Amino acid sequence: MKHELLLVTGPGGDAQGWGNMHVTEILNKTVNEIGVECSIAFVRNRAEFDAVMDKSTCDMVWSSLYYLSEKEAIVGIPEEAEWVSDLLDARGIPYIGSSAQTMKDMILKYRTHEIMEKSGVLVPFHVLVEPGAPIPANVPFPAFVKPNGESRSVGISDRSVVNTPEELAAQVAWVHHELGQGALVEEYLPGEEYTVLMLGNGEHQEILPGKVTVDESHYGKYRILRSDLRGVGLTKVSIPTEHAEEAAELMRKACSALKCMDHVRADMRVGADGRLRIIEVNGIPGLKPVKSWSPQIFSLYHPQGSPEADYREMIRAILISAFARIGKPL
Ligand SMILES: Nc1ncnc2c1ncn2[C@@H]1O[C@H](COP(=O)(O)OP(=O)(O)OP(=O)(O)O)[C@@H](O)[C@H]1O
Ligand SMILES: [Mg+2]
Repeated sequence: MKHELLLVTGPGGDAQGWGNMHVTEILNKTVNEIGVECSIAFVRNRAEFDAVMDKSTCDMVWSSLYYLSEKEAIVGIPEEAEWVSDLLDARGIPYIGSSAQTMKDMILKYRTHEIMEKSGVLVPFHVLVEPGAPIPANVPFPAFVKPNGESRSVGISDRSVVNTPEELAAQVAWVHHELGQGALVEEYLPGEEYTVLMLGNGEHQEILPGKVTVDESHYGKYRILRSDLRGVGLTKVSIPTEHAEEAAELMRKACSALKCMDHVRADMRVGADGRLRIIEVNGIPGLKPVKSWSPQIFSLYHPQGSPEADYREMIRAILISAFARIGKPL
């Protein structure tokens, strides 16, 4: 049976999805080694996307982009975003990952919280402050202020933790002005940080919890993953000795509330009451071999003897679940 996969990426591939062009090339090589014919489409805009898709004979797409964008530094979703999953749905082309609706629900963190909360998934107190809107009066301090639709800890520094209404107003204004988007205000979760990998669907679904740590010397005022601590090899992931079952259960509930598919990774922290809360679900998790958290967690639970083999097995698990869904099992 023919299996042909097209990897879609563009200038936003690192900010939005699995990583830059170098990562995409490694992914391409890995998919080909697994026996699935694979190629890369680097597209900057709708015209380039359409030109590639008009010619493509692929039976599945895997996109590093939520939406078509020329922005390299931030996700920065505009009103008029052209969502890759919507464009693929319109063409009837299946893709790896969650549905178009779920992708949109995951990239905007306030929306993710609202959906999860309705389904009884434990999330932090949260309120969204759009540019121009007044600062809400009911915020519990200390609070945490972050952009509503970013990743890689963009916009996160020690100033994200605010202790007074003045600090809150200043950091919300900073997010509006510097990142051009709504500011999500949450309760500050002071405890340990976890990240949980979900692979596959239905009875083949695997949930693998990891604990994230950074050497104490790198923290400033707060034990948070500031933007300068990300992507530079400072974070370490280990198999948790505490909260493991709690994290797995929270992840199962989140994936079912949001209807996640194939591969997502959720970040969690322990609140002041000692219980875990989900802070976000990543719809297109990083796929940098060795460095990204998904491959790191997979290696901890399923070591194959070499980092290359671990990476290949994780990618194979994603491909198996996605091709099975479209009736073309690998
Ligand atoms: N409510 C909170 N309380 C304490 N720390 C928080 C809170 N929300 C986020 N953080 C810290 O900020 C970091 C980045 O936040 P979050 O995971 O929501 O955003 P992200 O930039 O989208 O991450 P990713 O790159 O994993 O997609 C977290 O890893 C955590 O250390
Ligand atoms: Mg995160």
